[in-house]
Amino acid sequence: MTLPHKVKIVEVGPRDGLQNEKETIPADIKIELVNRLTDAGFANIEAASFVSPKWVPQMATSAEVMEKIRRKPGVVYSVLTPNMKGFEAALAAKADEVVIFGAASEAFSQKNINCSIAESIERFREVAQAAKQHKIRLRGSISCALGCPYQGEVEPEAVADVVRRLRDLGCDEIDIADTIGVATPQKVKAVMERAAREFPIERLSGHFHDTYGQALANIYASLEVGISIFHSSVAGLGGCPYAKGATGNVSTEDVLYMMQGLGIETGIDLNAVVDAGQFISQHLGRKAVSRAGNAIAAKRQA
Ligand code: HMG
Ligand code: MG
Repeated sequence: MTLPHKVKIVEVGPRDGLQNEKETIPADIKIELVNRLTDAGFANIEAASFVSPKWVPQMATSAEVMEKIRRKPGVVYSVLTPNMKGFEAALAAKADEVVIFGAASEAFSQKNINCSIAESIERFREVAQAAKQHKIRLRGSISCALGCPYQGEVEPEAVADVVRRLRDLGCDEIDIADTIGVATPQKVKAVMERAAREFPIERLSGHFHDTYGQALANIYASLEVGISIFHSSVAGLGGCPYAKGATGNVSTEDVLYMMQGLGIETGIDLNAVVDAGQFISQHLGRKAVSRAGNAIAAKRQA
């Protein structure tokens, strides 16, 4: 199959990336990171998360971040909203898109959001209705769509079931997430193809963590079945607090480098993303987890 000639890259570093950092990151650093990403040309940045600060302390500064970032017209700044309390905060923060996040595995649903899959859908219903009423974009994310740290294998049918439920809530976009980065390409194709029988493929996205080093291969496999939206984190930041041992999202620099080589348009300036990756990695006191990012930075110095 011919690959899409254009893809949307959703930068999730400021949220998925930073949420797992142990040391508190000052809001100013998060704001500068988002501003740099805006300047790099992303059309969609997941900037913050309105969840319980007891559960995810790092995201406690989300209101300040959303208030102080410099917004570029047309760019969608998304936030996570597990319930109405989160939605009210998102509304006050003028978020362009709210994300409801469920799971294809019961065990993970309990650990992550403290309720069953069915209960989560009931909580999301109210959020979804409020989003529609306020004309805010609604995205649904499905964790553990390709494997679960607690239950292991996850069947494509279980994913299809959650896709249907999120579709029926009115989601504009649905993310198929490999939370723990265990998937391999054929499995990804099977799940994407199954999900696409429930929801338009142009509005399905691939959200891959790179724990086992399979993320780029999984993105390529997704391209081959027609997926054209991908999530990634600058400098490969991240991990999920409720998925022990899982590492960050696939790095944005690596994804952009691959897209460039494939001649697929992203609208994003790779060099500016490398700079943003070096900026946040310096702040965190470690090397970026991005092969392409570090290679480009090293080449510049040489
Ligand atoms: P709960 O304890 O069942 O909820 O948590 P509750 O309604 O009983 O509330 C408990 C306390 O939290 C109360 O405070 C609430 O006010 C407060 P208290 O009275 O004890 O002082 N609270 C809130 N505070 C701020 N904002 C809110 C909020 N809601 C309640 N929105 C809840 C349920 C969902 C809130 C909790 O489990 C939670 O916040 N979990 C965090 C989950 C999370 O952020 N996980 C990481 C993101 S998901 C992810 O990374 C996966 C993804 O990347 C895709 C992938 O890779 O798979 C998206
Ligand atoms: Mg994630």
